This record gives sequence, C-alpha cells and structure tokens, in this order.
Amino acid sequence: MGARPNFMKIAPIVSAIRDSGSALEAVLVHTGQHYDEAMNDRFFVDLGIPRPDINLEVGSSSHAVQTAEIMRRFEPVLLDQRPAAILVVGDVNSTIACALVAAKEGARVIHVEAGLRSFDRAMPEEINRVLTDQISDLLFTTERHARDNLLREGVADERIHFVGNVMIDSVLRNLTRAAPAADTLAAAGLTFPGGEKDSPYAVLTLHRPSNVDDEGILTTLLGTLREIAARLPIVFPMHPRTRARIDAFGLRHLLDHPGLLILPPVGYLEMLGLARGARLVLTDSGGLQEETTALGVPCLTLRNNTERPITVDEGTNVIVGQDPALILAAFEDVMRTGGKTGRIPEYWDGRAAERIVATIRTWL
Ligand code: UD1
Repeated sequence: MGARPNFMKIAPIVSAIRDSGSALEAVLVHTGQHYDEAMNDRFFVDLGIPRPDINLEVGSSSHAVQTAEIMRRFEPVLLDQRPAAILVVGDVNSTIACALVAAKEGARVIHVEAGLRSFDRAMPEEINRVLTDQISDLLFTTERHARDNLLREGVADERIHFVGNVMIDSVLRNLTRAAPAADTLAAAGLTFPGGEKDSPYAVLTLHRPSNVDDEGILTTLLGTLREIAARLPIVFPMHPRTRARIDAFGLRHLLDHPGLLILPPVGYLEMLGLARGARLVLTDSGGLQEETTALGVPCLTLRNNTERPITVDEGTNVIVGQDPALILAAFEDVMRTGGKTGRIPEYWDGRAAERIVATIRTWL
C-alpha cells in the first residue's frame, strides 16, 4: 500500500486475515507514496491498521521517478521476505510498481479491485490498472462488468473472482464511528454562512490532474463551484496537489466565498461523516463514487468517464464532466428532486475481505 485510497481497502483485508485463524500471515509494506499526517497517519489510526512492518519512504516525485524508486526499494524486501504471494490494491503508482517487481521475480501477484476500466489512457491510473491486471495471477473484482473487461484483455477466466468491494467493507464497518459534520467543521474553526452550526451542505473533493493541472479548466470549475456555493454551502477538504495548483496559478481569490468552506484533507471518519450527511457530493475521486452509492447520497462526478459504471447503472452517481451548464443542470436536478436514490450493488455487503481471504487460502 502507499496512497490514501489504498488504506481503506487494505484495512478489512488485514482484519480478515487475522480473523481467519489460519497460518496465513501478512507482512505490511508501505511504500511512502503518501506521507503527510493528514494523507497517511490519520488513516492508520481511524481504520485500526497495524503499523507497517516496512516503510519504503519514497515520497513524491514524477511518475517515472516515483514508480522506479518504489521498485528499487521493494525488490530487496521481496527477496528477503520470500512471501507465498504479494497482494496489491487499487490503481496507484505503488500498485503497479510492487506488482511489477513481484512478477519479474516469479512471485505470485494478487490484485484486489481488478478489471475496472475508464477506457481513458490519459489517466495515469488507467495505465496502472491495465498493466497490473496483465501480470496478476489472482484477480478480485468489485462489480460484474470487470470480468468482461478482463476477459477482453485475455485474462484467463479461472483467475477472476467476483467478491464485492472492500472499500464498502470499510464504510459499513465504520459508519457508527463517523464524525458528525458539525464537529469536523468546528474543529477547523468553520461555520456555515450566517454563523449557523447546522445546514444542508454539499461536499467537494477535487484532485485529478485532468481537473487541477490545467489553469483554464481549474478556473472554470472553481467559477461553477462558486455559483453552487451561493445556493448550498460546499464543504471542501482540499488535497495538497490542488492547493499547490491553486497557489501556482494565482487563483486563491476564487476560494474567497462565504459558501465555500475549505478544510485541510480530513481523516477517514471525518470524510465518512461529511459524505453521509451531505445533500450531494461533487467529486473526481474514484472511491467517493462508490461510497456515495453505498450511502445512498447523490454524487455528481466531475469527470468525463468512470471506471466504476455500476455506480451509474445501479447507484447514485451521475457523470457531469467539466461543462458548467451540465454541472449546474445536474445540481438543480438534485435540489429539485433529491437526486438518484439507487440501490446497493451485488456483494457490497461488508464481506468482500472475508471472501478474498477464503479464496486466497484455497488458492495457496
Ligand atoms: C495519487 C494517485 C491517485 C489517487 C490520489 C489520492 C497515482 C498515479 N495517483 O494521486 O490515483 O486518487 O493519490 O490522493 O498514484 N503530496 C503531499 N503530501 C502527501 C502526498 C502528496 O503534499 O502525503 C503532494 C505532493 O506535492 C505531490 C502531489 O501531492 O507531488 C501528488 O501526490 P502523488 O501521490 O504523486 O499523486 P496524487 O495526486 O496524490
């Protein structure tokens, strides 16, 4: 594991291994891709993940340098540990880097969250997904579409196991511990416009390079969000990448709006509480598209595609892209009708990690 969206996927797998009462043992390797207290340490505490056995401390850099550095530092760990298999989750640079090292060493690779495809190769995560799946021996999927994607790419059917969604295991397990939104805002010294402690609100997350690395796109998006904020306060925990781009482009003034409540990145239990209590979520994250579907909260995805189509077909997700007219029309629809209600996809039942561990034991 290495980046924020990995932690909530790893947590239930680690517990399921521990609870299985088998000889199976996990050695936890953290690549150090994310390292800030808010992007990293908080999640270990919130999710009860044991301290990593090994931390490779790679930090941030270009994709090539980050991926190469993870590989360079992971190889001796693998040679030293000689595990029966290595397990990776999701689609971040840490996922492909560790899978590639293992495959080259002849170690067996297990990929959790396999087969998701946005069909957009401009997304770094899409490259990571396609390549990781190609070199994996055992592939666990979260939704039925994923198997078709994998079969089309030549993955053998018997390697694919539809087990459900470990990210939703974490949602269901932690729902009663989720922090009330008012507490999260108060802790950051914020109140809703007019000084109110409670109010309907939207939650926003924004960090994809396609949204925040282009000055024109980011400027237009922030303008649209200001229009929404004038109608419904927006709680916006801001990713460090986004903060850095806003500063570099000199766009700070666009954040100055009474309806925009800007927070530093929040912990897992804070985010869960914010999402659960929201009238709607606006996001370019992958995980939040799924979490909102599990929570029954309408989600407007600020991207032109999704690798998680079940959230649109069955869940509460609507793909709105970056066009202000489309975003505002979808927002108005949620305000008028309450938005999509959706249903819970198959196997998003809190037991995915249990199925994964049972399958791994048989397979090994
Ligand atoms: C990574 C994942 C992305 C995921 C996101 C969630 C890849 C290709 N992308 O993108 O899929 O949705 O994490 O957060 O792996 N930074 C900090 N502190 C940190 C980590 C990052 O300040 O703890 C800053 C650094 O300036 C860095 C930038 O954020 O350059 C980007 O971090 P990086 O991990 O490279 O990619 P993300 O954009 O976070």
